[in-house]
Amino acid sequence: MYTGEILESMKKVEAARDANLALEPRRMTAEEKDALLSAYHPDYKESEFETLKIGVSRGDKVPHELAALLQGKPRIGAGDADLTKIDYDTDVLIIGGGGAGSSAAIEADNNGARCMIVTKLRIGDANTMMAEGGIQAADKPNDSPAVHYLDAFGGGHFAAKPELLYKLVNEAPDAIQWLNRLGVEFDKAPDGTMITTHGGGTSRKRMHAARDYTGAEIMRTLRDEVLNRGIPVIDYTAAVELILDENGRCAGAVLMNMETRELRVARAKTVILATGGAGRLHYQGFPTSNHYGATADGLILGYRAGAKLLYADTLQYHPTGAAYPDQIYGALVTEKVRSLGAKLVNAKGEVFMHPLETRDVSAASIIRECGDRGNGVKTPDGVGVWLDTPMIERIGGEGTILSRIPAMHRMFAKYGIDIRVEPILVYPTLHYQNGGLDITPDGMTAVENLYAAGEVVGGIHGRNRLMGNSLLDVIVFGRNAGRCASEKAKSVEPGALTLSHIDAFLKERGDAGIEGDTVSPKLLPVYTHGNPDVPKKPF
Ligand code: FUM
Repeated sequence: MYTGEILESMKKVEAARDANLALEPRRMTAEEKDALLSAYHPDYKESEFETLKIGVSRGDKVPHELAALLQGKPRIGAGDADLTKIDYDTDVLIIGGGGAGSSAAIEADNNGARCMIVTKLRIGDANTMMAEGGIQAADKPNDSPAVHYLDAFGGGHFAAKPELLYKLVNEAPDAIQWLNRLGVEFDKAPDGTMITTHGGGTSRKRMHAARDYTGAEIMRTLRDEVLNRGIPVIDYTAAVELILDENGRCAGAVLMNMETRELRVARAKTVILATGGAGRLHYQGFPTSNHYGATADGLILGYRAGAKLLYADTLQYHPTGAAYPDQIYGALVTEKVRSLGAKLVNAKGEVFMHPLETRDVSAASIIRECGDRGNGVKTPDGVGVWLDTPMIERIGGEGTILSRIPAMHRMFAKYGIDIRVEPILVYPTLHYQNGGLDITPDGMTAVENLYAAGEVVGGIHGRNRLMGNSLLDVIVFGRNAGRCASEKAKSVEPGALTLSHIDAFLKERGDAGIEGDTVSPKLLPVYTHGNPDVPKKPF
């Protein structure tokens, strides 16, 4: 139930709607954005970060929660798994059953490799499944990969690795066609052309979508393809440590059954980490739009084995997480809502920013509005700003919400809120890790024969990602890793298996005086009362 104060504020939004619809909010200047980010974006809060003391990226700044895991105690000791007893033997071992892992498996299979997927939950339990708004590709006559590159490079603060971003944008049109052929039901006009929209920071309409459940539609299709091909999927089985061979090359993983805790040994010629993101670490107490298993496991496994990190200090807070009601606190309210015309409005009914600034700028602007400017709407246990969804029906005509964003309508309708007639309350939610493992364009990390794809990778997007470039990178770099790892596997003969890197890591940890009982990889969050994994509500 809304409080009287919320209802009063809602009246102001309704009264100002006509004027706000006519308003063309200006974009911020580069100087304004810089000042805003440094004062209000969570990435700039120095007290929330620390410097890594051990490992190949020693000296890098990372969030405290991630440092505790990267420098934490391994789940197993070097002697805990019998490496002479091989339970699974394959060419390409894929760790993670989301969009990147599934795309990799399909391409490795196409290349004639034996491959298998292991996943700590089920295939499809992944951030890909949760993605809503769309996937970018420059495939319209007024667009080009070069323009896509410029948008993404600028939006990422000119920090993307050029060779990775180049690959992303150039392979995007083919990725869309590949998904289309596999059976993804993209939104199309009656003549069969794909419908595309804008996202924050795009200069062309290049967002392809399946309503507002694009990720679920893509994941459904990829999962069907993997299962139809008979690619083995070992579910409820987590990788708890990578295995190297005597030459220091990656050669498999120790797996743990999530129910029985039994350990299994998987030997592989090449390994692909496709473990996804870290939203369930709830950095700085933020809620998250991420799936239940997003606990940074790939970063931990890769780092302990010697893979370097890139930009692990940069996270994405999606500007519009649900701020009310509490049951969906932090759930994603897709950027497509703003692409279709809804504006962000403060407690007084004022439009305070352009609705399609890049994500970091939008999130910081909302935080400022609710914080220092005191223009947030107080909810029973938090704060938010309005996203004026009825504007969508006014702009696109009656029925636009049900036809273009039905999942959003359903999510709020469950709680008695009809977004066609009432605005909704939003606040930033932890959505994406911009940083991750450093890779070369063939997808390999600093550890030979260890590849990475999807959200576990850093550097593709620089220090901020544009909407729709994540579903794209999952497909482009997932397929790429599958092709490259399976090709490499043709010339690999693993040597004797070893877990000696665990001992070396423990020694380095001891020498650096690191104490603490945090065990990693974390695998799953713990939401018992009073546990640090429970979001604190960052306001
Ligand atoms: O807003 C969204 O639909 C999210 C998309 C993305 O992160 O790419």
